[in-house]
Amino acid sequence: MPTLFKLILFSVFSMMSSLAYTADLKAGKAKANTCVSCHGVSGISTNDNWPNLAGQNKGYLIKQLKDFKTGARKDAQMRYWAKTLSKEDIENIAAYYNSLKP
Ligand code: HEC
Repeated sequence: MPTLFKLILFSVFSMMSSLAYTADLKAGKAKANTCVSCHGVSGISTNDNWPNLAGQNKGYLIKQLKDFKTGARKDAQMRYWAKTLSKEDIENIAAYYNSLKP
């Protein structure tokens, strides 16, 4: 029964992706602990010199963090922090900040 088989496959995949999504946000939140001192508890910075991150586009956040890491975007403080992050950390953190309400 190919149709039933496809249906089962589809539900397994959607379950897996929704589970992974929840885990990503949690892991992102945990990793973002060190960012709070500058970027604020809910991604809203209290200092004029530090940008807000809440609600920012995920793709944009990923690119900035990768660029800080490689040095393509220059900022000494952010380079230090970005270097501590793995590819997965960056994706989780970006998903987490994107999910916050600005
Ligand atoms: C010591 C303060 C400090 C800490 C801690 C810090 N940041 Fe930043 N962050 C900055 C500053 C300052 C900038 C602006 C850099 C610039 O002018 O290019 C910035 C910029 C950014 C940007 C780019 C925002 C934009 O609008 O382009 C992202 C994304 C970011 N930080 C994420 C993080 C993450 C994730 C962490 C934790 C792992 C973190 N930051 C920790 C100070 C900090």
